[in-house]
Amino acid sequence: MANKDLHNAKRVKNDEFYTQLSDIEKELKYYRKHFRGKVILCNCDDPRVSKFFYFFYSSFHSLGLKRLIATCYKNLNPDLFSQNLDEQAVYCIYDGTDRANDVITDYDAFIKQNEWGVLTGDGDFRSPESIELLKQADIVCTNPPFSLFREYVAQLIKYEKKFLIIGNQNAITYKDVFTFIKENELWLGINPSGMCFNVPKGYTKTTKIVNGVVMGWIGSACWFTNIDNKKRHEEIILYKNYNEKEFPKYDNFDAIEISKVSEIPQDYGGVMGVPITFLDKYNPAQFEIIGITNHGDMLGIPFTNNCFSEVKGKRKYVRILIKRKQNEN
Ligand SMILES: C[S@@+](CC[C@H](N)C(=O)[O-])C[C@H]1O[C@@H](n2cnc3c(N)ncnc32)[C@H](O)[C@@H]1O
Repeated sequence: MANKDLHNAKRVKNDEFYTQLSDIEKELKYYRKHFRGKVILCNCDDPRVSKFFYFFYSSFHSLGLKRLIATCYKNLNPDLFSQNLDEQAVYCIYDGTDRANDVITDYDAFIKQNEWGVLTGDGDFRSPESIELLKQADIVCTNPPFSLFREYVAQLIKYEKKFLIIGNQNAITYKDVFTFIKENELWLGINPSGMCFNVPKGYTKTTKIVNGVVMGWIGSACWFTNIDNKKRHEEIILYKNYNEKEFPKYDNFDAIEISKVSEIPQDYGGVMGVPITFLDKYNPAQFEIIGITNHGDMLGIPFTNNCFSEVKGKRKYVRILIKRKQNEN
């Protein structure tokens, strides 16, 4: 196999994680009011197998949707684990007019009988055809390929779309993704990270058995969104007081090291370095995000030698640099 093919095969394998309906329901229930009257796009989803498509199809009327659009990538055959080998891909534009309510008598029949539309192109989310569909959408919901996450998010923000998507928490440390987080254009969903996915046979990384089925477990999989949610307004209860011994200053810049989010001192007004799990509890009214370590060029803080945080010569993990908001009591 040529190097390029090998790389593509590896990428495809790493991207074939299919989301469970239960995980979709667990997160999307918090955003119900946002869906009313809206056009939903699932643009990395084969409507014949995607649970995102099923979720919106089956609750189309109770959510009050206007339209549901789904497109897949390089796939004409309805197999769950797409090999992305076809030159074209199927799509579905559903407007709910085939039924007056959400009673579904035979979903299988819908899946089998429907004459699926075929895109002229391959369904790549960056293709002009897909972008035309994106322009028609109000909210994008999917689990996009992990390997293209940066480009995927950048496109959603460029076209000013609302979205609820699954990604890997590690993406927080990518410079461009972090910039969106810092500018409050992107934040985390409500559920904590960690999800089981349907994976192709032969998947050997971390697995879990769910109802007798072998599933891939990704502890860092989480929701990313730009739709307001209640968690974003909850304050972290701070109970610790600042002291130099427990919260040492970094050797190379003026901020203190905090190894546990729950221990952020309530009385420190300067810059603090916290683990990336802070974003799970981030309330922009309580804290301001200043920057991130390991990306010195993004900080307003001058580093004396490098952009890694160090305490007594010992390098720390990546840290998000935060400061309490002035008006916070
Ligand atoms: C992580 S899987 C998730 C599938 C589905 N959204 C779900 O949640 O079950 C990512 C999907 O993106 C598709 N994909 C890969 N590259 C793509 C691209 N450039 N444009 C659109 N879809 C792509 C793959 O075919 C794969 O099915």
